[in-house]
Parts: sequence; C-alpha cells; structure tokens
Amino acid sequence: MKQKLNEILTNGLAEIEKSADLKELDEIRVKYLGKTGELTQILRGMKDVAPEDRREVGSLANSVRESLENGLSEKLANLENAKLMADMEKEKVDITEPSKGVKKGALHPLTRFNNKFMEICVEMGFSVIQGPEVETDYYNFEALNVPKNHPARDMQDTFFISDNILMRSQTSNMQVRAMEKMKPPFKIVCPGRVYRNDSDSSHSPIFNQFEALVIDENIGLKDLMLMIKEILRRLFGENVKMRVRPSYFPFTEPSIEIDATCQMCQGKGCSLCKGTGFSEVFGAGVVNPKVLEMSGIDSKKYSGFAFGPGIDRSVMVTNKIPNIKYLFRNDIRFLKQMR
Ligand code: PHE
Repeated sequence: MKQKLNEILTNGLAEIEKSADLKELDEIRVKYLGKTGELTQILRGMKDVAPEDRREVGSLANSVRESLENGLSEKLANLENAKLMADMEKEKVDITEPSKGVKKGALHPLTRFNNKFMEICVEMGFSVIQGPEVETDYYNFEALNVPKNHPARDMQDTFFISDNILMRSQTSNMQVRAMEKMKPPFKIVCPGRVYRNDSDSSHSPIFNQFEALVIDENIGLKDLMLMIKEILRRLFGENVKMRVRPSYFPFTEPSIEIDATCQMCQGKGCSLCKGTGFSEVFGAGVVNPKVLEMSGIDSKKYSGFAFGPGIDRSVMVTNKIPNIKYLFRNDIRFLKQMR
C-alpha cells in the first residue's frame, strides 16, 4: 500500500510537471483525485488496512493528496500566467501607427445661433422658459388683444387644428402664459418653433422665434431700445447700426420694427437688403396695458416691453444660405458645409 502511494506521488507529480495546457492538467486531477481517481480509491479502501498500519498509511495518503493538490494549483497558476502573456503578446497595439481619424459632429447652425442668443439673454438676467407649440386661440391671439375676426389675424396665416386649437403662429403666446404665472418684476425669454402657412425660398411653414418679455415698474420704450441695441452689439459686433421704424402689433403700443446692419453686405448694400444696407430683425414694442390687465397684471403699477426676433433669416444671412428649407432638411452634405 505504501509503495502504491509513493508511486502515485511520483507519477502524479511527473505528469503534472509535463502537462502543457489546462485541459491536460484537469485530466490529471480527475485521474488521481476525481471520484474514481487512484488516490481516492485508496483512501476509500482504508477500512481494509490492518488496524496497526492504518495510522501510518492514512497520514501518508493524506500527505500524498496534499502534495498532488499543491502541485496542481501551482501548475495551474503557471499555465494561466503563460496564457495571459501569450494573449497580451497577440493583442499588442502599435501606438505609433497613424490613426484612421475621428469623425467629429457639429451643432446645427440654428442651434448655434440659438445658444448664442440665449447666452446673451441669460447674462442680462433673463430666465429661459418654454411652452406649447399646439396652442389655444386664446393664448395665441385673444389674450394678446387680437379678438376673433380682427384684421391683424391676416398678418399670420395660421394653421388651425379646430375652431379653438392651432399651431402657434408666434412665440408671443408665452407672454401671456408668463404673465399669468409669474409675479412681476420678471424677465423671460422663450425660444421656440412657430408655424405659418407660407412657403418660398425665404419662408418656411416652420420657423423659429424668440420671445423676450420684461415686466417691471417705470419701464418703457427707451429701455427697450437700449436693451435691443446692446443685444445687437453682442450678437453682431461693435460696428452694428440699428434703425427703428414705427410698426403695428395689437399687443404692443407703441410698436416698432428694428432693422440692423445687413450681415450679408455689412451695410454696403446688396440684393438681400435691396441696397439699403439694413435688414429687418425684430418686431418689438411696449406691452399694451390692455394685455397686462387681461393677464391679471396691474397696469397702473407695472409696465413692460417685448421683442420677438425670428432667427432663421439671421442664420441664413450669416451663413450665406440661399434657401430657408436647407435649414430643416437635415441633409448631411449641407450640414457638413455649415460646421
Ligand atoms: N410676435 C410678433 C411677430 O411674430 C413679433 C413681436 C414680438 C412683436 C413681441 C412685438 C413684441 O411678428
């Protein structure tokens, strides 16, 4: 029995030493230590060993098992290590090889203009809010002093969904929503999409506006003009010139139209500005007291002003885009040129 055990030890260790991979090593483990393995069988047969020898044989058998187990785990670690080194060698990356290049994304020109305008407004203390594009007649028109059948409705060819629901034709709906909710004094700006039934190379049925509204005590036209002048300076640079023309909006009184130096020709005169050197940028005005009252603001205590630039035209001009539709088609070839 002792001789058999010593044989198992010598053979086992030799086989372990020779084994070349994990599979072979596992077969050796099964052969000696598995359920029907050689050593397991001997340990099971201990009851047949003469009682006086049992202790000695038993302890030898245990030490053989321990030696085999140690031999196996040591070899296992060696084999695993060797495999790891081989894998690492195979997966070696040549960091000196030139790269295939990274394709960079870019912001859409409308988003860039939008971000710039928002930044300017936020620096001036405005809060940015957003609101619904599908709107009721009340917020889009009636609360802005444009009752049903008012001729001013013709200025905005509106898409009606039903008698009282429409696609907002202006972000001015947010003036009303803000005045209803917020306590004066406040300054809000709302960027958003608006919809009108109008389509040619410079008009799209979907386009983008901002609505800015300031409500406070003792403010009026001169504050409005100073603020717009500063915004234009920050948007288009120090040399921008501003021109003010009287206009009409039912929700502002007085109403004005702001022109700025044409960004296409820098004021020299071109086909876009029809030789005037100026292009129209903002509709604006002092909030009509009637509108304040309709939204629950005391018009004896508070006054306000609002302006609502369209941004698509400015983006077209500054990027020399000939047709407004390019802004909405998401044609990757066009967008690449706009980076
Ligand atoms: N909502 C007007 C338009 O779409 C612009 C405007 C905004 C005018 C705010 C006055 C005050 O034409």
